[in-house]
Amino acid sequence: MDLGISGKTAIVCASSRGLGRGCAEALAEAGCHVVINGRDADVLARTAKEIADASGAKITPVAADVATADGQKALLDAAGDVDILVNNNAGPPLRDFRQLDRQAMIDGAIGNMVTPIEMIQAVADGMIERQFGRIVNITSLTVKMPVPGLDLSSAARAGLTAFLAGVSRQIAGNNVTINNILPGKMETDRLRANIKAGAEKAGISVDEMRAQQINAIPAKRFGNAAEFGQACAFLCSAHAGYITGQNILIDGGLVPAAF
Ligand SMILES: NC(=O)c1ccc[n+]([C@@H]2O[C@H](COP(=O)([O-])OP(=O)(O)OC[C@H]3O[C@@H](n4cnc5c(N)ncnc54)[C@H](OP(=O)(O)O)[C@@H]3O)[C@@H](O)[C@H]2O)c1
Repeated sequence: MDLGISGKTAIVCASSRGLGRGCAEALAEAGCHVVINGRDADVLARTAKEIADASGAKITPVAADVATADGQKALLDAAGDVDILVNNNAGPPLRDFRQLDRQAMIDGAIGNMVTPIEMIQAVADGMIERQFGRIVNITSLTVKMPVPGLDLSSAARAGLTAFLAGVSRQIAGNNVTINNILPGKMETDRLRANIKAGAEKAGISVDEMRAQQINAIPAKRFGNAAEFGQACAFLCSAHAGYITGQNILIDGGLVPAAF
């Protein structure tokens, strides 16, 4: 399918690896100029070359911390007029709620709520002026289903979701959409690290932990960054202008809810 976004400029935050990279690859495949980002400059440069070689698209790497004002400015300066913004960042580490001190809670709120809002504030008016904009936020299944140890992730991302529920309706009349994608268990470095930590805590092998987790997913497998990226690219496409303010789970059926 031609997504109708060839030649558009996209920023994909936190995209040198994992789900962000999947989104960057799919947008590059659709013909976008993609500004990619991560803090490790070497990994980022490798990813930029691999995506450019595979897609033929222009890929601009910006090594920066997206949670900082300087990092955000570097991304915005590299992009120029932004047509597509995919907000992403690392999630808070697994932690019992008792262990979260004030600074940890503030950092979680900055990383997963304030940062994406700041990026949207920076690009929204240009999108409105040009009468085209697609914004996708990578949030988490934890918005809909509590997971022990990820309470801060749930809270910060639910705050973002609630904040944008109004904003998305406020700007929808300008062909600017805002949607959230909620990953379930996707095979990335983050998932692999969580499985390893869970296995150590439970005193079982990594393979046993993987099998247990896969067994609990109706689709009987983990998801992957490539399929996640394709869904994101569709939400960023010319065809998705009537989808806004939505929370789309990509979880193989893991959240057992009708709505
Ligand atoms: N994978 C899952 O199953 C799953 C499930 C639910 C929610 N999520 C959420 O989805 C998001 C992406 O997860 P993932 O699994 O793709 O993670 P990942 O594999 O660990 O990749 C994270 C990416 O973000 C970059 N990054 C991290 N902090 C950054 C920062 N401050 N500034 C710029 N770049 C940064 C990393 O590069 P550098 O380290 O070099 O900066 C890397 O490219 C996270 O918020 C995660 O909590 C994931």
